[in-house]
Amino acid sequence: MRVGMLTSGGDCQSLNATMRGVAKALYENVEDITIYGFLEGYKGMIYGEYRKMASSDFSGILTEGGTILGSSRQPFKQMRDPDENGLDKVAAMKHTYYQLRLDCLVVLGGNGSQKTANLLREEGLNVIALPKTIDNDLWGTDMTFGFQSAVNIATNAIDCIHTTAASHGRVFIVEVMGHKVGWLTLHAGIAGGADIILIPEIPYNIDYVIDAINKRKKAGKRFTILAVAEGAISEEDAKLSKKAFKEKRKDWQYPSVSYEIAHRIQEQTGDEIRITVPGHMQRGGEPCPYDRVLSTRLGAEAAMMIIDGDFGNMACVKNNEIVRVPLKDVAGKLKMIQPDSSIVKEAKLIGICFGDAPMK
Ligand code: F6P
Repeated sequence: MRVGMLTSGGDCQSLNATMRGVAKALYENVEDITIYGFLEGYKGMIYGEYRKMASSDFSGILTEGGTILGSSRQPFKQMRDPDENGLDKVAAMKHTYYQLRLDCLVVLGGNGSQKTANLLREEGLNVIALPKTIDNDLWGTDMTFGFQSAVNIATNAIDCIHTTAASHGRVFIVEVMGHKVGWLTLHAGIAGGADIILIPEIPYNIDYVIDAINKRKKAGKRFTILAVAEGAISEEDAKLSKKAFKEKRKDWQYPSVSYEIAHRIQEQTGDEIRITVPGHMQRGGEPCPYDRVLSTRLGAEAAMMIIDGDFGNMACVKNNEIVRVPLKDVAGKLKMIQPDSSIVKEAKLIGICFGDAPMK
């Protein structure tokens, strides 16, 4: 049996642990198995850059962050466009697959990568997908691997800010990764005891944010901590069309959304504000135990799918069971936070402000 494997898109802490899960279960249960690792994601498949892996390659990597295969972003939107030398990328990937006489391709990736995986499935390749991303925004799975490790890091950043914020009586903004969805900000915000959480799914009104800061001051609290997602958006901006929003952002004077929010708070309150952006630290370091377990389980199930010849699915977690979800149902769908979901309600019940009208 010949299996190709690749890690695509932004990396995360648990990619190696997941590949190890797939490989170990295959070596354990299939007599004759060869694994090819494509280098730097789909790029390796397009340009025929790969390594024939040995079982030893998958040893000692359970706790190692990053990816032993390397990764790259190959935008789905451009997959059908020829490269700068006129190469048809989809045809090139199919060529590599058939040249290596692969029985299947295992794709570890987030949203964009799964769209390309689905495209390759439609093109007739046997594809198996695994849900990677610190954003936890893949539809079909309760949890993506990488998410909990990133929550730990973002929470730790907020924890560290707490003591300095309390000492100086300042307003602090911690900007958490997540352009389109706020799972990471929501979880790290709750875990880190943030007072205000701003996420893309709930557009904020700056007046409510300022009310929340003032309410804390009145209650004798010397500081306020905001956990703000990279993609947090104001009510005014959320009303704009995509085109108008892009146009507005052309003249934007801020390096990121937190700086705009800080400016607006400072203007109205005169408070001293500091911004912390943990950035790519959130994708770094070793996977947490939760992710190691999840990755091992998902990887083992992917191996079972290969052995069963059950292709075109993603291994997902649902109610703590690992299940197979058709890739065609997953690809292109974002799992977003519902503003009326219970986790948001519970956070509001303990007084966390989301920048929208307070609950009655
Ligand atoms: O998709 C994962 C993610 O870390 C997002 O949370 C973040 O917005 C983005 O990738 C950053 O991308 P890049 O590593 O390309 O700067």
